[in-house]
Amino acid sequence: MHRASVGINKFCFCLSLAFSGLLLLLPCLWPPAQPLALPQPKAQFRPPPNETYRNFSHTPSEVPLKRRGTWAPFKGHIKHEPLDIEDVFIAVKTTRKFHRSRLDLLIQTWVSQAKRQTYIFTDGEDKDLLLRTGTNLINTNCSAAHTRQALCCKMSVEYDKFIESQKKWFCHVDDDNYVLLPSLLRLLSSYHHSQDVYLGRPSLDHPIEASEKVKSNGLVSVQFWFATGGAGFCISRGLALKMSPWASLGNFISTAEKIRLPDDCTIGYIIEALLEVKMTHTLLFHSHLENLRKLPPEIVLEQVTLSYGGFENRRNVVSVGGRFSLIEDPTRFKTVHCLLYPDTDWCPKVKLESGH
Ligand SMILES: *[C@@H]1O[C@H](CO)[C@@H](O)[C@H](O)[C@H]1NC(C)=O
Ligand SMILES: *[C@@H]1O[C@H](CO)[C@@H](O)[C@H](O)[C@H]1NC(C)=O
Ligand SMILES: *[C@@H]1O[C@H](CO)[C@@H](O)[C@H](O)[C@H]1NC(C)=O
Repeated sequence: MHRASVGINKFCFCLSLAFSGLLLLLPCLWPPAQPLALPQPKAQFRPPPNETYRNFSHTPSEVPLKRRGTWAPFKGHIKHEPLDIEDVFIAVKTTRKFHRSRLDLLIQTWVSQAKRQTYIFTDGEDKDLLLRTGTNLINTNCSAAHTRQALCCKMSVEYDKFIESQKKWFCHVDDDNYVLLPSLLRLLSSYHHSQDVYLGRPSLDHPIEASEKVKSNGLVSVQFWFATGGAGFCISRGLALKMSPWASLGNFISTAEKIRLPDDCTIGYIIEALLEVKMTHTLLFHSHLENLRKLPPEIVLEQVTLSYGGFENRRNVVSVGGRFSLIEDPTRFKTVHCLLYPDTDWCPKVKLESGH
């Protein structure tokens, strides 16, 4: 991984873990395992039911609510809930060295539309950013190293702050994600926050397989889906409260240590393997690990999150033309923002010829 130093903040270790699935099962490569004090996962892997795959070629707003409901995994007792952005807790994970290069763009764009609901979790003080932008900046006091422990430490603080906030939905994104707030609200309002909902994009086309040591049975293999953290994911309050024994007040860190997996995988482990709640797979969330150029331009604004390639792959951005050139807006986030909020004061009033 010679390029890893740059994009590493976003790289889900699970991807590589899964590709080397065999290695995972070789206990000799693992640090000495302690017996799990957690309840054993009971779930045998079942593929997610087909209706949990939402078809993103539809504009959610154009589909009558009733019909949209049929895509939801709650057959027979589908609940909807009108939602306001106030009901959503959006956690942005970052690190001190990316405040200038990544956060400023987010604060200028989508965060400006949800300033009070967005909480930025970082690992260092930044009085200048606070004074300039007045965002909710939370110093987690976690290490700035890109280790499993440091990432899980931040997730643990995010979880606790969400529970404290009393909000209805927890959404986690990374510092290279654009959150399309109207789409996010449409998606979340087709569920009810009291139901068990875990929404995100699977980073693999199969469940991850991990093994863990349990007191009596030796090594036990567990399979579960997880939503890739780099694309963002959302969890209903109802489900988040059930995660508490394994996630609250530092327990998240010990849970992650016990299965030795990074933060996003640990979320999937708690929800799918321990709580036996199925993740709802959606393709509306996007990370820099996919080919973003393949997203059809006409559905870009219907997505829930977007991302960009960063230093290692600058050209991997969504195809939206007009407004700003690639030089003025290399990530395309400003262009997306001006298409969504054309009245923003810094948005060009005259649309350029699209695509140039
Ligand atoms: C799920 O969808 C796929 C592709 O549309 C289809 O081949 C498969 O038979 C479906 N499975 C079930 C259980 O309906
Ligand atoms: C979505 O639905 C349309 C029409 O029902 C279909 O043509 C298209 O292939 C579907 N797309 C996905 C990603 O399932
Ligand atoms: C980090 O440390 C500071 C100073 O000790 C403290 O005020 C703050 O509450 C800590 N942050 C968290 C999330 O615990």
